[in-house]
Amino acid sequence: MVVEPKAWEHYSEEEVLEANKLKYGNEAIVQFYEDFEESKYSYREYDVVFSAVVDMLMPHLSGSLRAVDICGGAGKGAFTIKKCCPKAEITLVDLSEKMLGVARKRAAKEGFNDIKMVLSDAYTFLNGNKEYDIIIFSSAVHHFKDPVKLLETAARSLSPRGVIITIADPNRLKSTRRYKFFEFLATDKTNKKTIIKNLLKNGFKGKDKPDIFDVAEYQAYYGIDDLKLRKDLEESGLNALAHIRYPAGESYLTKIMPYFGLFWAFSFILTPNDKYKGKEWELKHRIKRSMPFAVDLM
Ligand SMILES: C[S@@+](CC[C@H](N)C(=O)[O-])C[C@H]1O[C@@H](n2cnc3c(N)ncnc32)[C@H](O)[C@@H]1O
Repeated sequence: MVVEPKAWEHYSEEEVLEANKLKYGNEAIVQFYEDFEESKYSYREYDVVFSAVVDMLMPHLSGSLRAVDICGGAGKGAFTIKKCCPKAEITLVDLSEKMLGVARKRAAKEGFNDIKMVLSDAYTFLNGNKEYDIIIFSSAVHHFKDPVKLLETAARSLSPRGVIITIADPNRLKSTRRYKFFEFLATDKTNKKTIIKNLLKNGFKGKDKPDIFDVAEYQAYYGIDDLKLRKDLEESGLNALAHIRYPAGESYLTKIMPYFGLFWAFSFILTPNDKYKGKEWELKHRIKRSMPFAVDLM
């Protein structure tokens, strides 16, 4: 029986969670992460953002920095913090045992033997009365039905000087034709053939639904309205010290996309209090100056 996908708003939080469990328990997906070699520059924005945040926080901490990478997957966020601050106490949380397996292998290869790996879904972990100086969501916010609820919940686990970093989520520019053209340039031959076949079948004004309705990735296809999300977060008392829009992806595309206004990924540095008041400009300026490609600071 073929089941017609529902509209996104009709999916419950539990259904989205189940879709993620299914997806990241799938051997082929896990294998992709196992084999995937990050290109030099897809890490660069992590280095820039994370080191700026670590340097802002460190003078205010009495003990070692405590960070948690929620939805940590293969470990990109956790490893970047480790590189910025080798003495940090780091925890990586993921709901997939198989993804944790990939993270363990990579951590061993990098020589990061003291990262704690925890099998848990984000909400269960975040409701566990722990406290962190940095809470990371890397390519993670778009996997949740309600990003505001997620980030509000995370904020309750922050230390007095703590901040949340979200990075590598797509915004609504992903739905534009301009973006789709660049996506076509970057994709492999097989995908190019499928895209052309679909265009011939459906025309340029064809269905705007993805071919495979993947609930776990729904917001990756359509993008998140980052301006609305920021406003909603501000209304709930979580302020953006920085809101960065940037052109994530292949290094050559990150150089070209800004000329087309395609700052299609976003990152927030969030705080629930005014402890860093007056520091925003310095933080943003450092990030803008250090990025290897043009960024839009909102
Ligand atoms: C796109 S991957 C991102 C992995 C990594 N953070 C990165 O930047 O490469 C999404 C990860 O989130 C995990 N995940 C999805 N929903 C989750 C949830 N509700 N709680 C915990 N982990 C979740 C998945 O298992 C997967 O490893």
